[in-house]
Amino acid sequence: MTDPLAVAPLPGANFGGLIRVADVAAFVAATERQPERLPAALDAGHGLLMLSGLNAISKDPDLLVQLSRPFGREVENYRETTSRLEMVHPDVPQIFVVSNLPPVSFPPPERPDPPFLPDGGLPVQFPHRRGWHTDQSFRRPPPDISLFLAVTPAPRDQGQTLYADGVAAWESLPADLKARVEGMQGLHVAPFRGYGEDEVRAGKTPQPLGPRDGPQPQPIVRVHPVTGRKALYLCEQEQMDWINGPIVGLEPGVDGAGARLLYALMIHYTRPEFVYVKAWSAGDMVIYDNRSTIHTATWFDAERHGRVMWRTTVWGNPGAAYAGEARSWEAALA
Ligand SMILES: [Fe+2]
Repeated sequence: MTDPLAVAPLPGANFGGLIRVADVAAFVAATERQPERLPAALDAGHGLLMLSGLNAISKDPDLLVQLSRPFGREVENYRETTSRLEMVHPDVPQIFVVSNLPPVSFPPPERPDPPFLPDGGLPVQFPHRRGWHTDQSFRRPPPDISLFLAVTPAPRDQGQTLYADGVAAWESLPADLKARVEGMQGLHVAPFRGYGEDEVRAGKTPQPLGPRDGPQPQPIVRVHPVTGRKALYLCEQEQMDWINGPIVGLEPGVDGAGARLLYALMIHYTRPEFVYVKAWSAGDMVIYDNRSTIHTATWFDAERHGRVMWRTTVWGNPGAAYAGEARSWEAALA
């Protein structure tokens, strides 16, 4: 009998694993019998696991929550952790809906300029490619793992998601840069509140921030609590505070020393050999570890296509740097 949780190498990537699900019921039953298997596969793949054939979840959203449980203490309830309540699934509050359709109405990012590389390929490297982030890094402690399901994807040559391997990026960082950034912190903030790089450059007035919006300092180098591996932990553009940061203790602002360091780190982090381009089919799911990977969305034609993706986040094991901390958003609400 074949093992429904068997992991193959992920084609087109230097990290990650692939599970082709043939029978969703047998797969879910196997994850319940052996709840340690998928988290172990995720850790073995430097925090990236691709699954296909999960179309049945679209009709039974509770299954997504069920599949999320082995990844940590708490599958987050977005009514308690996000300011964007229009993005919360109406029946299952653990599901965050990413869609250009109403009521979410979240537009895709703009195309890079130029939209393609000279060889016709998709640009992946910062700053040609923008929007690289790790989920909800403006909360402390941030969530550990995300599960991201394609309910109705864009056509496969649009609306891809790019993932970068923070472990490989850290391990290949020049020694002098490693020594410089270890112990430093980035300043993370909720997007589209006027603190993003482009907004600051455009002179937009920053909005008041809610209790879930940060800004929050986070270590630039995170030590994974299970594998012990170090990984770069950074965002750019909209999810760093470019007024007070982006790097704690360095000259602030979009042209300061902090900005220069962040650019150098992000250019390295998103080198093509560290990046996986995920083209989506319905029923595909990517599980990613926010402690050791970053990701970004790509453009799709939102006039012609309605895209619907569902995401859960699992919280509860951020590592020693956060030991004993109260949740920032609860403390701010109290
Ligand atoms: Fe994200």
